[in-house]
Amino acid sequence: MTSFEHIARAIVAGALYGMVATTVAAAQNAPPGDAANGKRLYLADGCFTCHGRSGQGGAYNGPAPILAKTALPFEGFKMQIRNPVNDMPAYSDAILSDRDIADIYAFVQSLSGRRSPKDIAVLNN
Ligand code: HEC
Repeated sequence: MTSFEHIARAIVAGALYGMVATTVAAAQNAPPGDAANGKRLYLADGCFTCHGRSGQGGAYNGPAPILAKTALPFEGFKMQIRNPVNDMPAYSDAILSDRDIADIYAFVQSLSGRRSPKDIAVLNN
C-alpha cells in the first residue's frame, strides 16, 4: 500500500467516525421532557389541528408530516417550530419555550406511531 492510500484510508475512517459520533450525540442531546405536559401543549397550541391527535399527520395546503416517533433529532424538531420551512406557522420563544418544545418532543416520541395491519384484528377476519 502506498502512503497515499494510507492517508486516504485514514481520512475516510475519520469521516465515518465523525458521522457516527454526531448521530449518537444528536439522540443524546434531546433534553428530558415531560410527555404529559407536552400533550397538553400539543392540544392547547393547535399542533393537533394539522398533525392529528395521534401525530398521524394530516393536510394543510400540502401534507403535514407524521410526528409520532419522529426520526428528527431534537435540534431539527425545534428548528422547524421556530423557522418553518414552508406553510407551517412559526412559534416564537414567547409562545413555546425550549422547555415546552422538549415536552412536546417527549410527547410525540411516546405516541405509538404506525401499526402493522397484522396487529389490527378487524383487518384479519
Ligand atoms: C397550520 C397547520 C400546522 C400547525 C398548526 C402546526 N404544523 Fe407542524 N407542519 C405543518 C406543515 C404543513 C409542515 C410541513 C413543513 C412546512 O410546511 O413548514 C409541518 C412540519 C412540522 C415538522 C417537521 C416534521 C418532519 O418530519 O419534517 C415538525 C417537527 C412540526 N411540524 C411540529 C409542529 C408542532 C410541534 C406544532 C405545534 C406547536 C405544529 N407543528 C403546528 C403544519 C402545521
